[in-house]
Amino acid sequence: MSQKGRRLYEGKAKILYEGPEPGTLVVHFKDDATAFNGEKFEVIEGKGVLNNRISEYIFTRLGEIGIPTAFIKRLNMREQLVRKVEIIPLEVIVRNVAAGSICKRLGLKEGEPLPRSIIEYCFKDDALGDPLVAEEHITAFNWATPRELDDIVQLTIRINDFLTGLFAGIGIRLVDFKIEFGREYMPDGMVRTVLADEISPDSCRLWDMKTGEKLDKDRFRRDMGGLVDAYTEVARRLGLINGNGSGGPHPKPKLVKG
Ligand code: TMP
Ligand code: ASP
Repeated sequence: MSQKGRRLYEGKAKILYEGPEPGTLVVHFKDDATAFNGEKFEVIEGKGVLNNRISEYIFTRLGEIGIPTAFIKRLNMREQLVRKVEIIPLEVIVRNVAAGSICKRLGLKEGEPLPRSIIEYCFKDDALGDPLVAEEHITAFNWATPRELDDIVQLTIRINDFLTGLFAGIGIRLVDFKIEFGREYMPDGMVRTVLADEISPDSCRLWDMKTGEKLDKDRFRRDMGGLVDAYTEVARRLGLINGNGSGGPHPKPKLVKG
Protein backbone atom coordinates (compact mmCIF):
# COMPACT_ATOMS: atom_id res chain seq x y z
CA MET A 1 0.00 0.00 0.00
CA SER A 2 1.00 3.59 -0.01
CA GLN A 3 2.89 4.30 3.28
CA LYS A 4 1.57 7.81 3.29
CA GLY A 5 2.28 10.15 6.14
CA ARG A 6 0.56 13.16 7.59
CA ARG A 7 -2.23 14.83 5.65
CA LEU A 8 -0.89 18.17 4.44
CA TYR A 9 -3.63 19.74 2.36
CA GLU A 10 -7.09 18.99 1.05
CA GLY A 11 -8.13 20.60 -2.23
CA LYS A 12 -11.39 20.38 -4.14
CA ALA A 13 -10.57 17.16 -5.99
CA LYS A 14 -7.40 15.85 -4.33
CA ILE A 15 -5.77 15.33 -0.93
CA LEU A 16 -2.00 15.63 -0.39
CA TYR A 17 -0.12 13.54 2.17
CA GLU A 18 3.51 13.41 3.15
CA GLY A 19 5.25 10.77 1.06
CA PRO A 20 7.35 7.83 2.26
CA GLU A 21 10.62 9.72 1.64
CA PRO A 22 11.58 13.36 2.15
CA GLY A 23 10.78 15.43 -0.90
CA THR A 24 7.87 13.21 -1.94
CA LEU A 25 4.10 13.49 -1.57
CA VAL A 26 1.22 11.08 -2.02
CA VAL A 27 -1.70 12.51 -4.01
CA HIS A 28 -5.13 10.98 -3.42
CA PHE A 29 -7.75 11.52 -6.14
CA LYS A 30 -11.23 12.07 -4.65
CA ASP A 31 -14.57 11.45 -6.33
CA ASP A 32 -15.62 15.02 -5.53
CA ALA A 33 -16.61 17.18 -8.49
CA THR A 34 -16.82 20.94 -8.07
CA ALA A 35 -17.38 23.81 -10.46
CA PHE A 36 -17.74 27.58 -10.38
CA ASN A 37 -15.19 27.93 -7.59
CA GLY A 38 -16.76 25.22 -5.47
CA GLU A 39 -20.34 26.54 -5.68
CA LYS A 40 -21.53 23.38 -7.42
CA PHE A 41 -20.61 20.10 -5.74
CA GLU A 42 -21.33 16.41 -6.25
CA VAL A 43 -19.66 13.13 -5.44
CA ILE A 44 -19.29 11.13 -8.65
CA GLU A 45 -18.30 7.57 -7.85
CA GLY A 46 -15.37 6.38 -9.94
CA LYS A 47 -14.14 9.80 -11.10
CA GLY A 48 -11.02 9.79 -8.90
CA VAL A 49 -9.89 6.37 -10.11
CA LEU A 50 -10.28 7.40 -13.75
CA ASN A 51 -8.47 10.72 -13.31
CA ASN A 52 -5.60 9.05 -11.44
CA ARG A 53 -5.15 6.58 -14.30
CA ILE A 54 -5.55 9.09 -17.14
CA SER A 55 -3.25 11.64 -15.50
CA GLU A 56 -0.62 8.93 -14.86
CA TYR A 57 -0.74 8.01 -18.53
CA ILE A 58 -0.44 11.59 -19.79
CA PHE A 59 2.36 12.56 -17.39
CA THR A 60 4.27 9.40 -18.31
CA ARG A 61 3.98 10.13 -22.04
CA LEU A 62 5.03 13.77 -21.46
CA GLY A 63 8.00 12.58 -19.38
CA GLU A 64 9.05 10.39 -22.29
CA ILE A 65 9.28 13.39 -24.62
CA GLY A 66 11.42 15.25 -22.10
CA ILE A 67 8.90 17.39 -20.24
CA PRO A 68 10.07 17.57 -16.60
CA THR A 69 7.19 16.57 -14.34
CA ALA A 70 6.58 16.03 -10.62
CA PHE A 71 5.02 12.62 -11.29
CA ILE A 72 6.94 9.57 -10.01
CA LYS A 73 4.52 6.64 -10.16
CA ARG A 74 0.96 5.52 -9.55
CA LEU A 75 0.69 3.68 -6.23
CA ASN A 76 -2.81 2.25 -6.41
CA MET A 77 -6.27 2.97 -7.81
CA ARG A 78 -6.56 6.37 -6.17
CA GLU A 79 -3.05 7.45 -5.28
CA GLN A 80 0.16 8.52 -6.94
CA LEU A 81 3.62 9.34 -5.66
CA VAL A 82 4.99 12.71 -6.78
CA ARG A 83 7.98 14.92 -6.08
CA LYS A 84 7.28 17.73 -3.67
CA VAL A 85 7.35 21.06 -5.49
CA GLU A 86 6.41 24.62 -4.65
CA ILE A 87 3.36 25.34 -6.77
CA ILE A 88 3.63 28.49 -8.89
CA PRO A 89 0.30 30.21 -8.17
CA LEU A 90 -0.94 30.22 -11.77
CA GLU A 91 -3.48 28.27 -13.76
CA VAL A 92 -2.01 28.12 -17.24
CA ILE A 93 -4.79 27.67 -19.78
CA VAL A 94 -4.27 26.73 -23.41
CA ARG A 95 -7.09 27.23 -25.88
CA ASN A 96 -7.20 25.76 -29.37
CA VAL A 97 -10.93 26.18 -29.99
CA ALA A 98 -13.29 28.71 -28.40
CA ALA A 99 -15.24 27.32 -25.43
CA GLY A 100 -16.08 28.23 -21.86
CA SER A 101 -15.08 31.54 -20.34
CA ILE A 102 -13.39 32.98 -23.44
CA CYS A 103 -16.72 32.82 -25.29
CA LYS A 104 -18.41 35.00 -22.67
CA ARG A 105 -15.46 37.33 -22.33
CA LEU A 106 -14.88 37.97 -26.03
CA GLY A 107 -18.28 37.16 -27.54
CA LEU A 108 -17.09 34.08 -29.42
CA LYS A 109 -19.23 31.14 -30.47
CA GLU A 110 -18.47 27.81 -28.83
CA GLY A 111 -16.59 25.61 -31.27
CA GLU A 112 -15.14 28.50 -33.28
CA PRO A 113 -11.53 27.71 -34.11
CA LEU A 114 -9.16 30.34 -32.72
CA PRO A 115 -6.74 32.09 -35.10
CA ARG A 116 -3.95 30.33 -33.20
CA SER A 117 -3.49 28.57 -29.89
CA ILE A 118 -3.75 31.04 -27.04
CA ILE A 119 -2.17 30.83 -23.59
CA GLU A 120 -3.96 32.55 -20.72
CA TYR A 121 -3.04 32.81 -17.05
CA CYS A 122 -5.24 32.93 -13.97
CA PHE A 123 -3.87 33.84 -10.55
CA LYS A 124 -4.62 30.92 -8.23
CA ASP A 125 -6.63 32.51 -5.45
CA ASP A 126 -10.00 31.01 -4.54
CA ALA A 127 -11.05 34.09 -2.55
CA LEU A 128 -10.62 36.20 -5.70
CA GLY A 129 -12.15 33.53 -7.97
CA ASP A 130 -8.85 32.85 -9.83
CA PRO A 131 -8.81 36.08 -11.88
CA LEU A 132 -7.38 36.27 -15.39
CA VAL A 133 -4.02 38.08 -15.31
CA ALA A 134 -1.39 39.21 -17.80
CA GLU A 135 2.29 38.32 -17.95
CA GLU A 136 2.97 41.82 -16.60
CA HIS A 137 1.12 41.03 -13.37
CA ILE A 138 2.93 37.72 -13.01
CA THR A 139 6.39 39.20 -13.11
CA ALA A 140 5.52 42.50 -11.39
CA PHE A 141 4.06 40.71 -8.37
CA ASN A 142 6.79 38.09 -8.57
CA TRP A 143 4.41 35.11 -8.79
CA ALA A 144 6.97 33.78 -11.25
CA THR A 145 10.28 35.18 -12.47
CA PRO A 146 10.68 36.17 -16.14
CA ARG A 147 12.90 33.09 -16.53
CA GLU A 148 10.21 30.82 -15.04
CA LEU A 149 7.55 32.40 -17.21
CA ASP A 150 9.73 31.71 -20.20
CA ASP A 151 10.06 28.04 -19.13
CA ILE A 152 6.29 27.87 -18.62
CA VAL A 153 5.54 29.19 -22.13
CA GLN A 154 8.06 26.90 -23.83
CA LEU A 155 6.86 23.81 -21.94
CA THR A 156 3.20 24.70 -22.43
CA ILE A 157 3.60 24.99 -26.21
CA ARG A 158 5.29 21.57 -26.33
CA ILE A 159 2.65 20.03 -24.09
CA ASN A 160 -0.15 21.42 -26.26
CA ASP A 161 1.46 20.16 -29.48
CA PHE A 162 1.99 16.70 -28.05
CA LEU A 163 -1.42 16.35 -26.41
CA THR A 164 -3.27 17.70 -29.45
CA GLY A 165 -1.68 14.90 -31.50
CA LEU A 166 -2.17 12.26 -28.82
CA PHE A 167 -5.90 12.99 -28.57
CA ALA A 168 -6.37 13.44 -32.33
CA GLY A 169 -4.98 9.93 -32.70
CA ILE A 170 -7.93 8.59 -30.70
CA GLY A 171 -10.56 10.76 -32.37
CA ILE A 172 -10.69 13.46 -29.70
CA ARG A 173 -10.31 17.23 -30.19
CA LEU A 174 -8.30 18.91 -27.44
CA VAL A 175 -10.34 22.10 -27.19
CA ASP A 176 -8.58 23.59 -24.16
CA PHE A 177 -6.89 22.59 -20.92
CA LYS A 178 -5.43 23.90 -17.71
CA ILE A 179 -2.03 23.00 -16.30
CA GLU A 180 0.03 24.01 -13.30
CA PHE A 181 3.76 24.22 -12.74
CA GLY A 182 5.96 23.95 -9.70
CA ARG A 183 9.47 24.75 -8.54
CA GLU A 184 11.54 21.71 -7.81
CA TYR A 185 14.45 22.47 -5.49
CA MET A 186 17.21 20.14 -6.62
CA PRO A 187 19.84 18.74 -4.21
CA ASP A 188 22.56 20.78 -5.98
CA GLY A 189 20.76 24.02 -5.13
CA MET A 190 19.32 24.49 -8.61
CA VAL A 191 15.61 25.19 -9.08
CA ARG A 192 13.76 23.82 -12.08
CA THR A 193 10.28 24.42 -13.44
CA VAL A 194 8.26 21.21 -13.66
CA LEU A 195 4.77 20.26 -14.73
CA ALA A 196 2.71 19.45 -11.62
CA ASP A 197 -0.88 18.76 -10.53
CA GLU A 198 -2.94 16.64 -12.97
CA ILE A 199 -4.06 16.47 -16.59
CA SER A 200 -7.40 14.70 -16.82
CA PRO A 201 -10.89 15.23 -18.22
CA ASP A 202 -11.46 17.41 -15.12
CA SER A 203 -8.93 19.92 -16.43
CA CYS A 204 -9.41 19.63 -20.21
CA ARG A 205 -12.19 20.09 -22.74
CA LEU A 206 -12.27 16.99 -24.92
CA TRP A 207 -14.75 16.65 -27.77
CA ASP A 208 -15.34 13.59 -29.89
CA MET A 209 -14.10 14.57 -33.36
CA LYS A 210 -16.97 12.94 -35.23
CA THR A 211 -19.99 13.65 -33.02
CA GLY A 212 -18.81 16.65 -31.00
CA GLU A 213 -19.85 14.81 -27.84
CA LYS A 214 -18.31 16.27 -24.70
CA LEU A 215 -16.02 13.83 -22.90
CA ASP A 216 -15.00 16.10 -20.00
CA LYS A 217 -16.11 17.93 -16.86
CA ASP A 218 -18.48 20.18 -18.82
CA ARG A 219 -20.87 17.20 -18.50
CA PHE A 220 -20.99 18.02 -14.77
CA ARG A 221 -20.77 21.82 -15.10
CA ARG A 222 -23.74 21.78 -17.50
CA ASP A 223 -25.78 19.05 -15.76
CA MET A 224 -25.56 16.76 -18.77
CA GLY A 225 -24.96 13.52 -16.80
CA GLY A 226 -22.86 10.63 -18.05
CA LEU A 227 -19.57 11.94 -16.66
CA VAL A 228 -18.16 8.56 -15.63
CA ASP A 229 -19.13 7.01 -18.97
CA ALA A 230 -17.39 9.87 -20.79
CA TYR A 231 -14.17 9.62 -18.70
CA THR A 232 -14.27 5.83 -19.13
CA GLU A 233 -14.47 6.33 -22.90
CA VAL A 234 -11.39 8.58 -22.81
CA ALA A 235 -9.52 5.96 -20.74
CA ARG A 236 -10.67 3.18 -23.07
CA ARG A 237 -9.49 5.03 -26.20
CA LEU A 238 -6.14 5.67 -24.52
CA GLY A 239 -5.90 1.89 -24.11
CA LEU A 240 -6.09 2.03 -20.31
CA ILE A 241 -9.16 -0.17 -19.81
CA ASN A 242 -11.08 -2.83 -21.71
CA GLY A 243 -14.16 -1.98 -23.73
CA ASN A 244 -16.38 -3.17 -20.90
CA GLY A 245 -14.72 -0.79 -18.45
CA SER A 246 -13.54 -3.67 -16.29
CA GLY A 247 -9.98 -2.36 -15.93
CA GLY A 248 -6.57 -3.62 -16.96
CA PRO A 249 -4.64 -2.91 -20.12
CA HIS A 250 -5.74 -4.10 -23.55
CA PRO A 251 -4.53 -7.63 -24.17
CA LYS A 252 -1.90 -7.44 -26.88
CA PRO A 253 -2.82 -9.24 -30.11
CA LYS A 254 -0.95 -12.54 -30.34
CA LEU A 255 1.20 -13.30 -33.35
CA VAL A 256 -0.17 -16.42 -34.96
CA LYS A 257 2.49 -18.36 -36.83
CA GLY A 258 2.07 -20.71 -39.79
P1 TMP B 1 -12.67 28.15 -18.75
O1 TMP B 1 -13.18 28.17 -20.14
O2 TMP B 1 -13.76 27.93 -17.71
O3 TMP B 1 -11.81 29.33 -18.43
O4 TMP B 1 -11.74 26.86 -18.62
C1 TMP B 1 -10.65 26.65 -19.49
C2 TMP B 1 -10.05 25.28 -19.25
O5 TMP B 1 -9.46 25.18 -17.97
C3 TMP B 1 -11.04 24.14 -19.32
O6 TMP B 1 -10.42 23.04 -19.97
C4 TMP B 1 -11.33 23.79 -17.90
C5 TMP B 1 -10.05 24.15 -17.20
N1 TMP B 1 -10.27 24.67 -15.86
C6 TMP B 1 -9.76 23.98 -14.77
O7 TMP B 1 -9.15 22.92 -14.92
N2 TMP B 1 -9.95 24.53 -13.53
C7 TMP B 1 -10.60 25.68 -13.32
O8 TMP B 1 -10.73 26.11 -12.17
C8 TMP B 1 -11.13 26.38 -14.46
C9 TMP B 1 -11.89 27.67 -14.29
C10 TMP B 1 -10.93 25.84 -15.70
N1 ASP C 1 -12.34 23.51 -10.50
C1 ASP C 1 -13.04 24.76 -10.31
C2 ASP C 1 -14.01 24.66 -9.15
O1 ASP C 1 -14.07 23.74 -8.44
C3 ASP C 1 -13.73 25.28 -11.52
C4 ASP C 1 -14.05 24.40 -12.69
O2 ASP C 1 -13.35 23.45 -12.97
O3 ASP C 1 -15.03 24.72 -13.37
O4 ASP C 1 -14.79 25.49 -8.88
